[in-house]
Amino acid sequence: MHKNVTLVDHPLVVHKLTLMRDKHTPSAVFRQLLREISLLLAYEVLRDLPTTATTIETPLAEMEAPILKGKKLVFTSILRAGNGLLDGMLDLVPSARVGHVGLYRDPETLAAVEYYLKMPENVGARRIIVVDPMLATGNSASAAVSRLKEIGAVDIKFVCLLSAPEGIKAFASSHPDVQIFTAAIDEQLNDHGYIVPGLGDAGDRMYGTK
Ligand code: URA
Repeated sequence: MHKNVTLVDHPLVVHKLTLMRDKHTPSAVFRQLLREISLLLAYEVLRDLPTTATTIETPLAEMEAPILKGKKLVFTSILRAGNGLLDGMLDLVPSARVGHVGLYRDPETLAAVEYYLKMPENVGARRIIVVDPMLATGNSASAAVSRLKEIGAVDIKFVCLLSAPEGIKAFASSHPDVQIFTAAIDEQLNDHGYIVPGLGDAGDRMYGTK
């Protein structure tokens, strides 16, 4: 496995992912499963968040106890499917800031075209967690991360549900400094840039648009 990849293959994650892959799973269930998996992925990607000590009083004694340190982190969703991962992560870290990057895939070239960008201030001082369920060609993820670096982001991690070897290779060569967290690495892309076996179009599965 590529050194930039952390595979989150906890039994709960792989079980929920199997249910999501099944084409008979309805949108409402698909969204709920994605929300649940995103909690588990967030737990892994945030494992190395820095902490500091603070003094508190328990009912029994005073103690030095750890709390999170530094500026609030930023969950950054690549629209629109990224929002499915975002919701669960916000359940886990409600005080996080939220950014959005709007990209669509040109159906001919599969290149990523930006139509929206909204980020909180001071991205250079924050941990940025970029989320998109599918790392397929890697074009959208690479373009999103390039834009975030352009506006000053330096501490970036990428979280997806499913990835293709082609996407991992492309993303890791554009952004060797960005660790990828994924629940599974599938076989390959098909000619339309879809992950096989995959789960289909994540946005359509979430929102019932097909
Ligand atoms: N985007 C999706 O939603 N699904 C894929 O398989 C590839 C890209």
